[in-house]
Amino acid sequence: MFSIKDLTIKAQDKELIHNLNLTINDGEIHVLMGPNGTGKSTICQTIFHHPAYEIANGSITYHDHLLNDLTPTEISRLGLFLLNQNPIEIEGITNAELLRNALNEKNDTPLDIFKFNDELNEVCKIIDLPKEFVHRDINYNMSGGEKKKNELLHLFILKPSFIILDEIDSGLDVDALKTVGEALKKYYELYHPSILIVTHHNYLLDYFSSYQVHILKDGHIVQSGSKELAKQIEKTGFEANIINDNKKYE
Ligand SMILES: Nc1ncnc2c1ncn2[C@@H]1O[C@H](COP(=O)(O)OP(=O)(O)OP(=O)(O)O)[C@@H](O)[C@H]1O
Ligand SMILES: [Mg+2]
Repeated sequence: MFSIKDLTIKAQDKELIHNLNLTINDGEIHVLMGPNGTGKSTICQTIFHHPAYEIANGSITYHDHLLNDLTPTEISRLGLFLLNQNPIEIEGITNAELLRNALNEKNDTPLDIFKFNDELNEVCKIIDLPKEFVHRDINYNMSGGEKKKNELLHLFILKPSFIILDEIDSGLDVDALKTVGEALKKYYELYHPSILIVTHHNYLLDYFSSYQVHILKDGHIVQSGSKELAKQIEKTGFEANIINDNKKYE
């Protein structure tokens, strides 16, 4: 189980998230929606301790491990994975180098390089990424959509058990959206991870039969519901759907 309790996040002494609570059981899919600038990415980055954000109060736990006290490396080792809204470019380290090292560190037995290469080729097919991307520097000089697919390559190879997807659907063309939707569905069916999807759209959500939706506004969750809530938001917008949170939280 992944759990956020009474989380308050600050950046430059400004409170960005206030008293946030969220519980995601193993194998569940949760969706975080909300207007631009409400703090969705802030939450994602804070889980992995981005230095710009300070946990002013509250706790983040995964399977009884308190993430507040762990380093980003330790958090990754527990099986958490973040696909950033704007994936960072790392010049000088190729995808293959990073993944080979990550797997060697994770596993007790040395990596079978032939199996590793076969798996990389297989994943490139699933996500429709040219094979030569395996030997390109991580996200370096890639287009926005290519970066998202490149991050998916990492996801499929590292096989995390808790996945955070911060707007994986932004910047993808219609064909890429379909490929990514099908790839994520396949991953879910194979490994049953927990997933937190941050999105403004329903397109990728339609690949999953069941999920819970949370609306973030003014630094906290103001409404939760099922897939109908996400559909309704897409039709009529946030303002028409968010219950009067001032009344509720004053
Ligand atoms: N390092 C920072 N220092 C100060 N303010 C920040 C910092 N990072 C984010 N903010 C502010 O916090 C708010 C939330 O930003 P965030 O990127 O989390 O929004 P978001 O909900 O992900 O929006 P979008 O839907 O546009 O991706 C914004 O007003 C942003 O300007
Ligand atoms: Mg964001």
